[in-house]
Amino acid sequence: MSTTEPQASLSETVRKHKEFLFPAVAMFYADPIALERGEGEYVWDEAGNRYLDCWGGILTVSVGHGNPQVTDAVIEQLKRIHHTTTLYANKPQSELAEKLHQITPGRLKKSFFTNSGTEADDTAIHAAKLATGRHEIVVLRHSYSGRSATSLSAMGQAPWRPLPAQVAGIVHAHAPYCYRCPFKLTYPECGLACAEDIEELIMTTTTGEIAAFMAEPILGVGGFIVPPPGYFERAVEIARKHGGLFIADEVQTAWGRTGDKWWGIEHWDVEPDIITSAKGMGNGVPIGMTIATPEVADNFPGLTFSTFGGNPVSMAAALAVIRVIEEEDLRRNAAVVGAHLRARLDALKEKYPVVGDVRGKGLMQAIELVKDRETKEPAPEAVLKVFEETKRRGVLIGKGGLYGNVIRTGMMLNSTKDHVDELAEALDATLATV
Ligand SMILES: Cc1ncc(COP(=O)(O)O)c(C=O)c1O
Repeated sequence: MSTTEPQASLSETVRKHKEFLFPAVAMFYADPIALERGEGEYVWDEAGNRYLDCWGGILTVSVGHGNPQVTDAVIEQLKRIHHTTTLYANKPQSELAEKLHQITPGRLKKSFFTNSGTEADDTAIHAAKLATGRHEIVVLRHSYSGRSATSLSAMGQAPWRPLPAQVAGIVHAHAPYCYRCPFKLTYPECGLACAEDIEELIMTTTTGEIAAFMAEPILGVGGFIVPPPGYFERAVEIARKHGGLFIADEVQTAWGRTGDKWWGIEHWDVEPDIITSAKGMGNGVPIGMTIATPEVADNFPGLTFSTFGGNPVSMAAALAVIRVIEEEDLRRNAAVVGAHLRARLDALKEKYPVVGDVRGKGLMQAIELVKDRETKEPAPEAVLKVFEETKRRGVLIGKGGLYGNVIRTGMMLNSTKDHVDELAEALDATLATV
């Protein structure tokens, strides 16, 4: 094990961050890190400490820091033309839109590009309302959808919601959170009670006719909650019975992250009417996308545009990311290396009672820490301890979950088993101290 003893940072950058940014822009760690440089799976802070980055800026650096193909594509595009607005066509935007049509499931065809996941979700919700003529939306508890008035209203977690819902007509269904089943049942004897409950939710809290059901295939910020087999098939069936479209929020689950498939939702047998994504799509270049069926897209009336949406530099980055994923077979890699990660995390569960649950798909794997396996009382303090200790050992991880007790990993899609072992050894040594 390569334990690094980090140099004290006393970073001027961190000091200014604390003084001049909104305090709500919180940083990880008691002694926060200012990152200065990244290469492949590793990053360096200002004091020169090297870290294995198992978080990728929240599952966003998908094909490695400074990936040469993506960097070259960005530089080439910057030299050619770097801004057009959507009022003019640009080649990378048209090519990316065509490519997305080719790699998305079902009949998804027409895209609208923006700058973030928030805007992608907002666009999807507006498109669903306009296409159906209805206004109510069903979302999931424990979900995360962004920072606008609409997406904050759709948010399923109080800690991220600074104001009460500002947009009416959004109702929250129970999450398919098997480890903490809201009905205290067990799959499969539960009969998918969480999906079945959507019927009553619609009939008791809406007009009975909805515009859409929007859900993350795996609830990311919620702590990588993986819905059980059959969940989406039944939930979407109920939503459609009540006139709703299905929006898959793939901000975290897309681009092969879940292994073998481009899209997380492809692990279930349903076809979304709209998919949104962002994050890993640009390997860190700001980007958002909403792709819809022609019926939905063609019913978006009037005019709309986005100053930076479809920006040729972001589009070129996304095309390069997709090319790297294809050429290097990274969807398969995410499945193979993800399986190795899962096995290592399962072994930690065998060894440490504090690990209550291990879950995820592909390279989207998490462990939920509890004080007691019987009561499942969340152990957020243990997560903080693991954070400090893994940082000391030169490994960066992420966290999440409503109770702050889930350690989330978002290793890059081109990570190797050796990288996984480096992470697993740091977690093992750290959990031993909790
Ligand atoms: C599932 C999901 N949707 C939407 C968003 C919002 O994306 P952004 O932060 O790019 O606005 C996030 C961000 O974490 C997310 O995880």
